[in-house]
Formats: sequence, C-alpha cells, structure tokens
Amino acid sequence: MAKAKTTIFYCTECGNESPKWQGQCPACKAWNTLVEAPKEDKRSLPSAKKILPGTSSKPVKISEITQEKETRISSGFAELDNVLGGGIVPASLILVGGDPGIGKSTLLLQTAKNVAAAGHKVLYISGEESLSQIKLRADRVGEFSDQIRFLCETSLDVISEVLKEEKPEMAVIDSIQTMFREDVPAAPGSISQVRESTHVLLGLAKGLGITIFIVGHVTKEGTVAGPRMLEHMVDTVLYFEGDHQDTYRVIRGVKNRFGATDEIGVFEMRGSGLHEVKNPSEHLTEGRAAGSPGSVITCVMEGTRPVLLEVQALVARTHYPNPRRTAVGVDFNRVNLLAAVLEKRLGLRLSECDIYINIAGGMRLSEPSIDLAIIMAMISSYTDKPLPERLVVFGEVGLTGEIRSVTQDRKRIAEAEKLGYEMCVMPKTNAEKLKNVSGIRLTGVSSLAEVSKII
Ligand code: TYD
Ligand code: MG
Repeated sequence: MAKAKTTIFYCTECGNESPKWQGQCPACKAWNTLVEAPKEDKRSLPSAKKILPGTSSKPVKISEITQEKETRISSGFAELDNVLGGGIVPASLILVGGDPGIGKSTLLLQTAKNVAAAGHKVLYISGEESLSQIKLRADRVGEFSDQIRFLCETSLDVISEVLKEEKPEMAVIDSIQTMFREDVPAAPGSISQVRESTHVLLGLAKGLGITIFIVGHVTKEGTVAGPRMLEHMVDTVLYFEGDHQDTYRVIRGVKNRFGATDEIGVFEMRGSGLHEVKNPSEHLTEGRAAGSPGSVITCVMEGTRPVLLEVQALVARTHYPNPRRTAVGVDFNRVNLLAAVLEKRLGLRLSECDIYINIAGGMRLSEPSIDLAIIMAMISSYTDKPLPERLVVFGEVGLTGEIRSVTQDRKRIAEAEKLGYEMCVMPKTNAEKLKNVSGIRLTGVSSLAEVSKII
C-alpha cells in the first residue's frame, strides 16, 4: 500500500497549499515561494468558537448584539496611538514587522514600560534575548514599574500556562520566529510552527482578553515563514521602515481592524531608545543642501497627515552602454516612466544619462503626487540649475505630459505655509480652487511645457 503523504508545500506569501512543488504559487502567482512543511493536523486547530468567546452557533439580529464600551489603552506614544487608530484595543493581536535591527524590540519594550507605568499589568516575553540582555536595553530607556515582568521562553505551551496564570492586560512576544509548539513536528520559524503558534496566541488574546504584540522578522529570501502569512490572522499589522544609517524610523499601519490604515508615526532612535518626532516635516527637510541643483521639496499625504520631504535627483552623462537608473524610496518603474515622458515631451536626452533618484530620510513613497517633484528635480539636475529654496512642488504627471490634480491640496499647502515656504508649483485645477485661500504664491501648471517654462 502506498504510504500517505505527510508533507505538503506552502506558499510563504499567501499560505496557499499545494501537493507538489511548483516554481510559481498557483494562488498568488509569486515565484519561488513554495516550501515543504509537514501537513497540518486539522483536528489540532482551534475552531472559531473556541478562539472567539461570545460567538454562538445561533444567528442573531444586529440589535441583539451587545457591545461593551471600547476603552483603549494609551501606548504612551501619541505617534503610535495614532497609527493604532487611537490607542491599543484590549484583546487585540498586533503584529510588528520590520528588518532586523530596526528597533522593534526597543519600541515594544518602551511601549510595555509606558503601559505598565499607567498601572496595567504587562508581561514581556523574549525568545531572542537573555534576561541580562533585556536589562541592558531596559537601562538605556529608563525606569520600569513593578507592573511589568520579564520572561525568557520559546515554548508556547509554557507561555500559555504563564499567561493563563498571570492574566496580564498586555503581553509582548519577541519574536514569533523563535516560538514553537511541542506537538508540531517542525523547526521554530517554519511555516507550520509560525502558523500554529499564532493560532495559539490568537486564542489566548481573545479568550483571556490580553492584548498581544507579536514581533515578526521580514526576510528577503522567504526561507522562514514571513509575516505575510500572519497578516491574515492578526487584527493589526504595523511595519517599521527606515534607513539604517539614518536615525529616523517610520511606523506604518498596513492593516487595522480598529482604525484607518496608512497612518504613520515618526520616531528617532537615540542613545536612550526611541523618541517621538512630532513635526516630521521639519526633521525630514532639515540639513538640506539648499541652492544645489537636483533638490526639491514636495508634500505627500501619509494617511491623514501632510509631510514635507526632499526629493533628490542626479542626472549625469553615462559611461556605460546602458545608462544606469537607481531609485531609493520610490518605485523604480515610475522613475523610468517619468524619464521617458521627459525625453519625449521636452526633448531632454535622458537616454544618454545615468539617473539616480533618492528620497531623503529613508521614507518609502508610493503616492503619485510626487511625480512632479521627481520631474523637476531631474530637470534641475540635468540643466545644473538650482530651484528656489522656498519652493514646494506636487502633482501627478501623465504619459502625455499633462499635470493631473491631486487630493487634499489644502492640507498640503497649509503644511508648507506653516514651515515658511513661499512658493508652490501645483496642478492648475488645484491652484484655481485655492486661489484666494492661502498666503503662499501658487503657480498652477497643466503641462510639462509650462513646467519647463517656469524653471
Ligand atoms: P532593536 O530594537 O534590537 O531591533 P530589532 O528588535 O528590530 O531587531 O534595535 C537595535 C538597534 O537600535 C541597535 O542597532 C542599537 C540601537 N539602539 C539605539 O541606538 N539606542 C537605544 O537606546 C537602543 C535600546 C538601541
Ligand atoms: Mg529584536
């Protein structure tokens, strides 16, 4: 008799299962993401009813659902509370992802400290650091109250027992990749361990009413289970971004069942841990080499918040048969597209030039409103003429060279005005709407030809 197959292939991106290995995941079409793992035992998975107390098998009307008043706990950081949608929701499961060394453990240690200082019981569980290492870090970030306890443990069976006994209001699990369940025959960090461990934590969070923060490492290779798969299971997903050389760290809400996504919080890593940056625009534009060609200030919307930052371009004659194009902080294909539009519409000979685009401060942007800033920075670098220092630029650029309008123009202008900018180049439709509103000089443009004229 043929032996029953005991392993199966999982996609590290979407968690889809396939019976045999394939180069491409049939569900999400990602390449090289399938890894082999033991087949999960369906019986061991807790049912929704077990995870979510208060659910019954009987359908109910909306009027019959009783709701307790939601009381959120402050993390002690206004920046983090804002990303979470107004504070920490009790009994929620929150995933904090990011590159190694970006500051996840530090942020959660400080959050745990603040929550404990407000009188809540907190348990900080680390599977990565010893107690003395935690103490070293703790000494850097300040005084801790007795409400917070520390535990070094990687076995989830032990952790479950401790949480059931201690019943803290908040717990930190650092990190999910080090946790394991004894009854799952796979190594810690593998897909099945990570998924099973998260299931247990989900049950504990909902069943005991504990808010659990989970740290997840992101790996480029996808050899260990990436937090991607976890995103479906948790309530909130936060990602830490930032340049390792730079001290600024941005925390971004990617998924939030209790608030808006795409909000950001800005922090600065100092010798004494992370500190909030209340006015990111000021920090992201300071230290700018004013008066040099290829630098321009733009205003992007990060969630509900306008942020000013510097876009830099370097356009230089190439020495290679194929010119080099590099984009840091913006989509590489977008830069190529804008370069092609510039070449076609204004006749700049960019195909003979290397182009480097950089967003200062390590921010990653995906908003189309930065198009115009990239275009103007490229023209400025190409012609070697600096742009005025007190100028802000925003607008989307289309393939025919038209400048398209952007949303939230009023907020962007207000932020620029607050920081003392005197001129703004923006889409004509936006400028006409705001003609009498602001104290800043607005120049509306509707095509690239007009842009090159004003430069
Ligand atoms: P850490 O929180 O350990 O990162 P992660 O958990 O995401 O891997 O942060 C580590 C980095 O932060 C490390 O390079 C040292 C730096 N750091 C400071 O600069 N100041 C501090 O007060 C602390 C605690 C860490
Ligand atoms: Mg860490």
